[in-house]
Amino acid sequence: MVLLDQTRLPAEETEVVCTDVPALVRAVQTLAVRGAPLLGIAGAYGVALAAARGYDVEEAALQLSGARPTAVNLAYGVRRALAAHRAVTERGADRKEAARAALDEARRLHREDADASTAMAARGLALLDELLPGGGHRILTHCNTGALVSGGEGTAFAVALAAHRAGRLQRLWVDETRPLLQGARLTAYEAARNGLPHTLLTDNAAGSLFAAGEVDAVLVGADRITADGSVANKVGTYPLAVLAKYHHVPFVVVAPVTTIDIGTPDGASIEIEQRPASEVTQLTVLGAAGVAAAPPGGPAASAPPGTRAYNPAFDVTPPELVTAIVTEAGVVSPVTGDGIAELCARSLQV
Ligand code: MRU
Repeated sequence: MVLLDQTRLPAEETEVVCTDVPALVRAVQTLAVRGAPLLGIAGAYGVALAAARGYDVEEAALQLSGARPTAVNLAYGVRRALAAHRAVTERGADRKEAARAALDEARRLHREDADASTAMAARGLALLDELLPGGGHRILTHCNTGALVSGGEGTAFAVALAAHRAGRLQRLWVDETRPLLQGARLTAYEAARNGLPHTLLTDNAAGSLFAAGEVDAVLVGADRITADGSVANKVGTYPLAVLAKYHHVPFVVVAPVTTIDIGTPDGASIEIEQRPASEVTQLTVLGAAGVAAAPPGGPAASAPPGTRAYNPAFDVTPPELVTAIVTEAGVVSPVTGDGIAELCARSLQV
């Protein structure tokens, strides 16, 4: 499998080649490949890779699903490809045919995600126009939700892109997204490539930006949406939702239906990935070396040796702080358990 190595962006557009499942698991854990929808696609292709190489597909599926715990799409993508592989195997087909079925399923999921992205962009733009009738949207976003994480143009970023193409995006405010800087490295890179007017800010500058009346709406993606409408997304999302509520600014989540996990009842039940302390206690090194590398002489400490760090990768925003959840199958607003259940029932009928 050949993946764009997201740890090297924006300095280098380098590929990472995964010829076996452990290499793909490493790519997922180091965030070379990341973002909920893309993790689902990568997981499905990972099962196809395992099948094609003659590995134990059930074991590979377990390893891939467990590589990161929070983004539900990863396990979903793995499950889809595994189910296709099992179905063909149970019919008595040979290994090659079963591997082909897993690959076909991964490709189907990839295409579906691209289609979902197009639909979310259209629905998201229509919602923005309804919420902000004056146009000239100034949108704040967090983390990275564009083409880098999707089979198409992404989730929240795809909506901002649609607003830009419609001539209605005045500014995209890009949170840098500590500690791994998905906003600074990746969203600013995608915004520049697409010609969006954008400005980068440190995460802790968001409060003063709201206070200055410079934010018309917040658009973010999601890693898992639970049955009650709680949203797990990149750490730092929840404080934005609190700010948005205080300042009467719409807070909109954009995610494909595959990010909804009806089996998880509420936010408290979501497993939040804890990342290494070193991501916080050492200065992130950017540029040609990529984020994972240390500068000459070793990693540059930003805290005294031995400092402990609290480094959850995600936080949870409760449904009452979310104005709307935009999916390819429809918009849930207000966000309630009934609304989520209805949407899921509708999307199964499509
Ligand atoms: O740790 P990451 O970079 O994989 O986290 C990604 C995010 O939190 C995104 O906001 C989320 O996956 C939505 S992407 C469409």
